[in-house]
Amino acid sequence: MAGHNTQDTQAQDARLKERMADIKHKILVLSGKGGVGKTTMSVNFALALAEKGYQVGLMDTDLHGPNVAKMLGADEAQLMSYENGIEPFEVIKNLKVVSLSMAGHGPDTPVIWRGPLKIGVIKQFLADVNWGKLDYLVIDTPPGTGDEPLTVAQLIPELDGSIVVTTPQQVAILDSRKSINFSKQLNIPVLGVVENMSGLLCPHCGQEIPLFGKDGGRIAAEEMEVPFLGPVPMEQALMEAEDSGTHFILDSPDSISAKALREIIEKVVKAIG
Ligand SMILES: Nc1ncnc2c1ncn2[C@@H]1O[C@H](COP(=O)(O)OP(=O)(O)OP(=O)(O)O)[C@@H](O)[C@H]1O
Ligand SMILES: [Mg+2]
Repeated sequence: MAGHNTQDTQAQDARLKERMADIKHKILVLSGKGGVGKTTMSVNFALALAEKGYQVGLMDTDLHGPNVAKMLGADEAQLMSYENGIEPFEVIKNLKVVSLSMAGHGPDTPVIWRGPLKIGVIKQFLADVNWGKLDYLVIDTPPGTGDEPLTVAQLIPELDGSIVVTTPQQVAILDSRKSINFSKQLNIPVLGVVENMSGLLCPHCGQEIPLFGKDGGRIAAEEMEVPFLGPVPMEQALMEAEDSGTHFILDSPDSISAKALREIIEKVVKAIG
């Protein structure tokens, strides 16, 4: 029934367009290398914006390793589906989240899917979730330049831009250049590079240990002629908060990493208005 399928697809595409029109700004968080802090950036970005009173959505397109709910302390959350769409989970006031881990795919269930299925899920996240009117949609991605970020870029041609997360380590920087070029090739403005894990804050003496080196992110941004958004140091309390699902940026606003994250967020907000 090819005709029927085509009709379904057309209806979904129309819904997607309508829903996206209700969202002012859409931001893609990318990295070339895994584990450099994309989800940390996405989650804190979303929390800080929601606290400021913006209406925020956070979409987790990491289908193989969805960590967003866990980091927000919402691992028990389950999405509800109604006739008019899927209801996103409200983590705190003004912040709605959608992740595959909230759709019956628990933290221990491996997702073994090929590209077309993943593309279908991401399309559903955009077309069938009742996001409502939002100021910001923050989109977390798995590492690299695969199906997930590509699908988002193709389905939302009006993306405001990408934030590329790296550590100062050479191997991460090399990979981040791919994410920058990916954005450029797809005409996604690069809002800037974040250098995460930029020094380890010693919990005893407060001194910074340059565990993964220093300034690599800044230099890469300069070389690639994209903005540098700033460094975020490694802080044990941030990692612990994420593991326990507490909202560090809101609970410990004076900590060094929370301040660094806030500065970056303010720069992005300024850049896109
Ligand atoms: N600045 C930081 N200080 C302390 N811990 C951090 C910091 N940034 C990230 N982490 C920790 O490092 C780990 C990896 O971070 P995160 O999950 O955000 O990276 P990711 O890029 O999303 O990883 P993946 O590629 O697997 O999606 C997490 O356990 C997180 O809590
Ligand atoms: Mg992640």
